[in-house]
Amino acid sequence: MLLALAAARRVLFFGGKGGVGKTTVAAATALAQAGAGRRVLLVSTDPAHNLGHLWAREVGPQIVRLAAGLDGLELDPQATVDAHLAEVGDALRRLMPEHLAGEVDKHMALSRDAPGMHEAALLERIAELVEQGLRDYDLIVFDTAPSGHTARLMALPEMMSAWTEGLLRRQQRSERFGAALRNLGSDEGVGTRIIGGERTGTGEDRDQRIRQLLHRRRHRFEHLREVLTDSARTSFVIVLAAERLPVLETIELHAQLLRAGIAVGGLVVNKRSPADAGAFLAERHVQEEQHMHTLRSALPGLPLQQLPLLAGDVVGAGALQAFAARLS
Ligand SMILES: Nc1ncnc2c1ncn2[C@@H]1O[C@H](COP(=O)(O)OP(=O)(O)OP(=O)(O)O)[C@@H](O)[C@H]1O
Ligand SMILES: [Mg+2]
Repeated sequence: MLLALAAARRVLFFGGKGGVGKTTVAAATALAQAGAGRRVLLVSTDPAHNLGHLWAREVGPQIVRLAAGLDGLELDPQATVDAHLAEVGDALRRLMPEHLAGEVDKHMALSRDAPGMHEAALLERIAELVEQGLRDYDLIVFDTAPSGHTARLMALPEMMSAWTEGLLRRQQRSERFGAALRNLGSDEGVGTRIIGGERTGTGEDRDQRIRQLLHRRRHRFEHLREVLTDSARTSFVIVLAAERLPVLETIELHAQLLRAGIAVGGLVVNKRSPADAGAFLAERHVQEEQHMHTLRSALPGLPLQQLPLLAGDVVGAGALQAFAARLS
Protein backbone atom coordinates (compact mmCIF):
# COMPACT_ATOMS: atom_id res chain seq x y z
CA MET A 1 0.00 0.00 0.00
CA LEU A 2 2.88 2.38 0.87
CA LEU A 3 4.57 1.95 -2.50
CA ALA A 4 1.40 2.55 -4.50
CA LEU A 5 0.55 5.57 -2.34
CA ALA A 6 4.04 7.04 -2.77
CA ALA A 7 4.16 6.35 -6.51
CA ALA A 8 1.01 8.38 -7.08
CA ARG A 9 2.08 11.43 -5.00
CA ARG A 10 4.49 14.35 -5.23
CA VAL A 11 4.71 15.10 -1.51
CA LEU A 12 4.65 12.67 1.42
CA PHE A 13 4.72 13.46 5.12
CA PHE A 14 5.57 10.83 7.73
CA GLY A 15 4.42 11.60 11.25
CA GLY A 16 3.55 9.87 14.49
CA LYS A 17 4.61 9.38 18.07
CA GLY A 18 8.27 9.43 19.11
CA GLY A 19 10.40 6.38 18.39
CA VAL A 20 7.85 4.39 16.36
CA GLY A 21 10.01 4.38 13.21
CA LYS A 22 9.04 7.53 11.27
CA THR A 23 12.57 8.26 10.09
CA THR A 24 13.23 4.62 9.16
CA VAL A 25 9.97 4.17 7.22
CA ALA A 26 10.26 7.60 5.54
CA ALA A 27 13.83 6.89 4.41
CA ALA A 28 12.96 3.37 3.22
CA THR A 29 10.02 4.72 1.19
CA ALA A 30 12.23 7.42 -0.31
CA LEU A 31 14.87 4.84 -1.18
CA ALA A 32 12.31 2.51 -2.78
CA GLN A 33 10.94 5.36 -4.88
CA ALA A 34 14.43 6.39 -5.97
CA GLY A 35 15.04 2.73 -6.87
CA ALA A 36 11.95 2.87 -9.05
CA GLY A 37 13.56 5.71 -11.02
CA ARG A 38 12.03 8.80 -9.45
CA ARG A 39 14.13 11.78 -8.33
CA VAL A 40 13.49 12.00 -4.59
CA LEU A 41 14.29 14.59 -1.93
CA LEU A 42 14.18 13.41 1.69
CA VAL A 43 13.82 16.20 4.27
CA SER A 44 13.94 15.94 8.05
CA THR A 45 12.01 18.69 9.82
CA ASP A 46 12.70 17.23 13.25
CA PRO A 47 14.96 19.46 15.37
CA ALA A 48 16.36 16.25 16.93
CA HIS A 49 17.65 15.02 13.61
CA ASN A 50 18.26 11.41 12.88
CA LEU A 51 18.73 11.11 9.15
CA GLY A 52 22.46 11.27 9.84
CA HIS A 53 22.24 8.51 12.47
CA LEU A 54 20.12 6.36 10.22
CA TRP A 55 22.39 6.67 7.17
CA ALA A 56 25.48 6.52 9.39
CA ARG A 57 26.89 9.62 7.73
CA GLU A 58 26.85 13.40 8.01
CA VAL A 59 23.60 14.98 6.79
CA GLY A 60 23.11 18.71 7.29
CA PRO A 61 21.18 21.72 6.04
CA GLN A 62 22.81 21.45 2.60
CA ILE A 63 21.46 18.86 0.18
CA VAL A 64 23.62 15.71 0.04
CA ARG A 65 23.35 12.66 -2.18
CA LEU A 66 22.24 9.64 -0.11
CA ALA A 67 21.79 7.10 -2.90
CA ALA A 68 21.27 7.05 -6.66
CA GLY A 69 18.30 9.33 -7.30
CA LEU A 70 17.94 10.23 -3.63
CA ASP A 71 19.03 13.54 -2.06
CA GLY A 72 18.54 14.47 1.57
CA LEU A 73 18.85 17.29 4.07
CA GLU A 74 18.08 18.12 7.68
CA LEU A 75 16.57 21.52 8.33
CA ASP A 76 18.70 23.44 10.80
CA PRO A 77 16.17 25.04 13.19
CA GLN A 78 18.42 27.86 14.42
CA ALA A 79 19.73 28.74 10.97
CA THR A 80 16.13 28.68 9.69
CA VAL A 81 15.04 31.06 12.46
CA ASP A 82 18.00 33.37 11.76
CA ALA A 83 17.29 33.50 8.01
CA HIS A 84 13.59 34.08 8.68
CA LEU A 85 14.30 36.90 11.15
CA ALA A 86 16.82 38.49 8.79
CA GLU A 87 14.14 38.72 6.11
CA VAL A 88 11.43 39.99 8.46
CA GLY A 89 13.89 42.41 10.12
CA ASP A 90 14.93 43.76 6.75
CA ALA A 91 11.29 44.39 5.85
CA LEU A 92 10.60 46.03 9.21
CA ARG A 93 13.64 48.30 8.94
CA ARG A 94 12.35 49.47 5.59
CA LEU A 95 8.88 49.95 7.03
CA MET A 96 9.97 51.92 10.10
CA PRO A 97 11.49 55.40 10.23
CA GLU A 98 15.29 55.35 10.32
CA HIS A 99 15.65 56.49 13.92
CA LEU A 100 13.76 53.35 15.03
CA ALA A 101 16.19 50.93 13.34
CA GLY A 102 17.79 50.19 16.73
CA GLU A 103 14.38 49.26 18.15
CA VAL A 104 13.78 46.91 15.25
CA ASP A 105 17.09 45.17 15.94
CA LYS A 106 16.22 44.83 19.63
CA HIS A 107 12.80 43.44 18.75
CA MET A 108 14.37 40.94 16.36
CA ALA A 109 16.90 39.80 18.96
CA LEU A 110 14.05 39.16 21.42
CA SER A 111 11.98 37.38 18.76
CA ARG A 112 14.65 34.72 18.31
CA ASP A 113 13.36 32.86 21.35
CA ALA A 114 9.69 33.88 21.12
CA PRO A 115 7.11 31.06 21.26
CA GLY A 116 6.02 29.99 17.81
CA MET A 117 9.09 31.46 16.12
CA HIS A 118 10.61 28.06 15.37
CA GLU A 119 7.37 26.85 13.83
CA ALA A 120 6.93 29.99 11.73
CA ALA A 121 10.50 29.82 10.47
CA LEU A 122 10.27 26.08 9.84
CA LEU A 123 7.06 26.54 7.91
CA GLU A 124 8.60 29.23 5.76
CA ARG A 125 11.48 26.88 4.95
CA ILE A 126 9.06 23.99 4.23
CA ALA A 127 7.13 26.27 1.90
CA GLU A 128 10.37 27.16 0.10
CA LEU A 129 11.43 23.51 -0.14
CA VAL A 130 8.04 22.44 -1.50
CA GLU A 131 8.24 25.16 -4.13
CA GLN A 132 11.79 24.26 -5.12
CA GLY A 133 11.28 20.51 -4.65
CA LEU A 134 8.26 20.34 -6.93
CA ARG A 135 10.42 21.93 -9.64
CA ASP A 136 13.55 19.79 -9.21
CA TYR A 137 12.24 16.44 -7.89
CA ASP A 138 9.46 13.96 -8.60
CA LEU A 139 8.81 13.30 -4.93
CA ILE A 140 9.53 15.13 -1.67
CA VAL A 141 9.43 13.02 1.49
CA PHE A 142 9.20 14.85 4.82
CA ASP A 143 10.24 13.04 7.97
CA THR A 144 8.59 15.04 10.74
CA ALA A 145 8.93 15.47 14.49
CA PRO A 146 6.63 13.62 16.95
CA SER A 147 2.86 14.18 16.56
CA GLY A 148 1.80 17.35 18.38
CA HIS A 149 4.44 19.52 16.82
CA THR A 150 3.64 18.42 13.27
CA ALA A 151 -0.14 18.77 13.63
CA ARG A 152 0.32 22.37 14.77
CA LEU A 153 2.67 22.99 11.89
CA MET A 154 0.15 21.66 9.36
CA ALA A 155 -2.51 24.10 10.58
CA LEU A 156 -0.09 27.01 10.44
CA PRO A 157 -0.13 27.99 6.73
CA GLU A 158 -3.72 29.15 7.10
CA MET A 159 -2.88 31.24 10.15
CA MET A 160 0.20 32.70 8.49
CA SER A 161 -1.80 33.60 5.37
CA ALA A 162 -4.45 35.30 7.51
CA TRP A 163 -1.76 37.16 9.43
CA THR A 164 -0.02 38.35 6.27
CA GLU A 165 -3.39 39.26 4.78
CA GLY A 166 -4.14 41.47 7.81
CA LEU A 167 -0.75 43.12 7.50
CA LEU A 168 -1.38 43.79 3.82
CA ARG A 169 -4.70 45.45 4.55
CA ARG A 170 -3.14 47.58 7.25
CA GLN A 171 -0.32 48.49 4.91
CA GLN A 172 -2.78 49.57 2.22
CA ARG A 173 -4.52 51.79 4.75
CA SER A 174 -1.27 53.33 5.93
CA GLU A 175 -0.22 53.77 2.33
CA ARG A 176 -3.29 55.91 1.68
CA PHE A 177 -2.65 57.72 4.95
CA GLY A 178 1.01 58.28 4.04
CA ALA A 179 0.08 59.65 0.63
CA ALA A 180 -2.38 62.05 2.24
CA LEU A 181 0.24 63.16 4.73
CA ARG A 182 2.87 63.69 2.07
CA ASN A 183 0.42 65.87 0.22
CA LEU A 184 0.24 68.12 3.25
CA GLY A 185 3.59 69.70 2.55
CA SER A 186 6.97 69.58 0.90
CA ASP A 187 9.51 66.79 1.53
CA GLU A 188 10.72 68.63 4.60
CA GLY A 189 7.17 69.28 5.73
CA VAL A 190 5.15 67.96 8.61
CA GLY A 191 3.99 64.90 6.65
CA THR A 192 7.48 63.57 6.04
CA ARG A 193 8.46 64.19 9.63
CA ILE A 194 5.48 62.18 10.88
CA ILE A 195 5.95 59.15 8.66
CA GLY A 196 9.73 59.33 8.97
CA GLY A 197 12.59 59.97 6.59
CA GLU A 198 12.83 57.92 3.42
CA ARG A 199 15.40 55.17 3.50
CA THR A 200 14.79 53.70 0.09
CA GLY A 201 13.55 56.05 -2.58
CA THR A 202 10.25 57.83 -2.36
CA GLY A 203 7.46 56.90 0.03
CA GLU A 204 5.46 55.36 -2.79
CA ASP A 205 8.46 53.31 -3.83
CA ARG A 206 8.89 52.03 -0.34
CA ASP A 207 5.20 51.21 0.12
CA GLN A 208 5.23 49.40 -3.18
CA ARG A 209 8.20 47.30 -2.13
CA ILE A 210 6.70 46.40 1.22
CA ARG A 211 3.53 45.37 -0.52
CA GLN A 212 5.47 43.20 -2.95
CA LEU A 213 7.22 41.50 -0.06
CA LEU A 214 3.97 40.81 1.76
CA HIS A 215 2.39 39.54 -1.44
CA ARG A 216 5.28 37.18 -2.02
CA ARG A 217 4.96 35.83 1.53
CA ARG A 218 1.23 35.40 1.23
CA HIS A 219 1.64 33.69 -2.09
CA ARG A 220 4.22 31.29 -0.61
CA PHE A 221 1.89 30.25 2.23
CA GLU A 222 -1.12 30.00 -0.05
CA HIS A 223 0.85 27.77 -2.37
CA LEU A 224 1.94 25.53 0.52
CA ARG A 225 -1.63 25.35 1.77
CA GLU A 226 -2.81 24.44 -1.72
CA VAL A 227 -0.25 21.65 -2.02
CA LEU A 228 -0.86 20.31 1.50
CA THR A 229 -4.62 20.11 1.09
CA ASP A 230 -4.53 18.58 -2.39
CA SER A 231 -4.91 14.86 -1.68
CA ALA A 232 -4.01 13.99 -5.27
CA ARG A 233 -0.53 15.46 -4.76
CA THR A 234 0.08 15.19 -1.02
CA SER A 235 -0.44 12.45 1.50
CA PHE A 236 0.26 12.14 5.19
CA VAL A 237 1.31 8.73 6.49
CA ILE A 238 1.00 8.03 10.20
CA VAL A 239 3.55 5.57 11.58
CA LEU A 240 2.77 3.81 14.84
CA ALA A 241 3.40 0.76 16.98
CA ALA A 242 0.55 -1.56 17.94
CA GLU A 243 0.57 -0.26 21.50
CA ARG A 244 -2.05 1.57 23.50
CA LEU A 245 -0.67 5.12 23.45
CA PRO A 246 0.57 5.19 19.85
CA VAL A 247 -2.89 3.96 18.75
CA LEU A 248 -4.68 6.65 20.77
CA GLU A 249 -2.31 9.34 19.49
CA THR A 250 -2.79 8.15 15.92
CA ILE A 251 -6.57 8.52 16.21
CA GLU A 252 -6.07 12.03 17.63
CA LEU A 253 -3.49 13.03 15.00
CA HIS A 254 -5.79 11.80 12.25
CA ALA A 255 -8.59 14.04 13.61
CA GLN A 256 -6.25 17.03 13.90
CA LEU A 257 -5.03 16.60 10.33
CA LEU A 258 -8.58 16.24 9.09
CA ARG A 259 -9.46 19.54 10.77
CA ALA A 260 -6.48 21.12 8.99
CA GLY A 261 -7.78 19.75 5.66
CA ILE A 262 -4.92 17.28 5.21
CA ALA A 263 -5.63 13.77 3.95
CA VAL A 264 -4.14 10.81 5.77
CA GLY A 265 -3.27 8.39 2.98
CA GLY A 266 -2.33 5.41 5.10
CA LEU A 267 -1.10 3.91 8.33
CA VAL A 268 2.11 1.99 8.90
CA VAL A 269 2.09 -0.24 11.96
CA ASN A 270 5.75 -0.89 12.61
CA LYS A 271 7.56 -3.29 14.93
CA ARG A 272 4.82 -5.94 15.01
CA SER A 273 5.80 -8.77 17.35
CA PRO A 274 5.91 -12.26 15.79
CA ALA A 275 3.35 -14.84 17.01
CA ASP A 276 5.72 -17.76 16.55
CA ALA A 277 8.92 -16.76 18.34
CA GLY A 278 8.41 -17.77 21.93
CA ALA A 279 5.73 -17.33 24.57
CA PHE A 280 6.72 -13.79 25.53
CA LEU A 281 6.43 -12.36 22.02
CA ALA A 282 3.32 -14.46 21.34
CA GLU A 283 1.67 -12.82 24.33
CA ARG A 284 2.66 -9.39 23.05
CA HIS A 285 1.30 -10.34 19.65
CA VAL A 286 -2.12 -11.14 21.16
CA GLN A 287 -2.18 -7.81 23.00
CA GLU A 288 -1.15 -5.98 19.81
CA GLU A 289 -4.09 -7.60 18.03
CA GLN A 290 -6.43 -5.90 20.52
CA HIS A 291 -4.83 -2.53 19.82
CA MET A 292 -5.08 -3.22 16.08
CA HIS A 293 -8.77 -3.84 16.58
CA THR A 294 -9.18 -0.43 18.30
CA LEU A 295 -7.25 1.21 15.46
CA ARG A 296 -9.26 -0.41 12.69
CA SER A 297 -12.61 0.37 14.34
CA ALA A 298 -11.66 4.03 14.85
CA LEU A 299 -10.21 4.49 11.37
CA PRO A 300 -11.98 1.99 9.11
CA GLY A 301 -11.09 1.95 5.45
CA LEU A 302 -7.65 3.55 5.78
CA PRO A 303 -4.95 1.63 3.87
CA LEU A 304 -2.67 -0.04 6.36
CA GLN A 305 0.72 -1.72 6.17
CA GLN A 306 2.32 -3.77 8.92
CA LEU A 307 6.07 -4.24 9.35
CA PRO A 308 7.68 -6.80 11.64
CA LEU A 309 9.84 -6.12 14.64
CA LEU A 310 13.39 -6.89 13.57
CA ALA A 311 16.09 -8.41 15.73
CA GLY A 312 18.41 -5.43 15.20
CA ASP A 313 18.32 -1.67 14.57
CA VAL A 314 18.13 -0.35 11.03
CA VAL A 315 21.38 1.53 10.38
CA GLY A 316 23.16 2.31 7.12
CA ALA A 317 22.28 2.15 3.44
CA GLY A 318 22.38 -1.67 3.24
CA ALA A 319 20.01 -2.23 6.18
CA LEU A 320 17.69 0.45 4.79
CA GLN A 321 17.65 -1.20 1.40
CA ALA A 322 16.67 -4.49 3.05
CA PHE A 323 13.99 -2.69 5.07
CA ALA A 324 12.69 -0.98 1.93
CA ALA A 325 12.31 -4.42 0.30
CA ARG A 326 9.68 -5.23 2.95
CA LEU A 327 7.42 -2.37 1.83
CA SER A 328 4.53 -3.27 -0.41
N1 LIG B 1 10.79 -2.69 12.37
C1 LIG B 1 11.77 -2.38 13.22
N2 LIG B 1 12.37 -3.37 13.95
C2 LIG B 1 13.35 -3.08 14.80
N3 LIG B 1 13.82 -1.85 15.04
C3 LIG B 1 13.27 -0.84 14.34
C4 LIG B 1 12.22 -1.04 13.40
N4 LIG B 1 11.89 0.16 12.89
C5 LIG B 1 12.68 1.07 13.48
N5 LIG B 1 13.51 0.48 14.35
C6 LIG B 1 14.48 1.11 15.24
O1 LIG B 1 13.77 1.92 16.17
C7 LIG B 1 14.49 3.09 16.50
C8 LIG B 1 13.62 4.31 16.23
O2 LIG B 1 13.37 4.41 14.82
P1 LIG B 1 13.23 5.82 14.11
O3 LIG B 1 14.37 6.70 14.45
O4 LIG B 1 12.95 5.55 12.69
O5 LIG B 1 11.92 6.34 14.86
P2 LIG B 1 11.30 7.82 14.82
O6 LIG B 1 9.84 7.63 14.93
O7 LIG B 1 11.83 8.56 13.67
O8 LIG B 1 11.89 8.41 16.18
P3 LIG B 1 11.86 9.96 16.63
O9 LIG B 1 10.48 10.21 17.10
O10 LIG B 1 12.87 9.97 17.73
O11 LIG B 1 12.24 10.76 15.44
C9 LIG B 1 15.74 3.06 15.67
O12 LIG B 1 16.79 2.57 16.44
C10 LIG B 1 15.42 2.09 14.53
O13 LIG B 1 16.56 1.43 14.04
MG1 LIG C 1 12.79 10.46 13.58
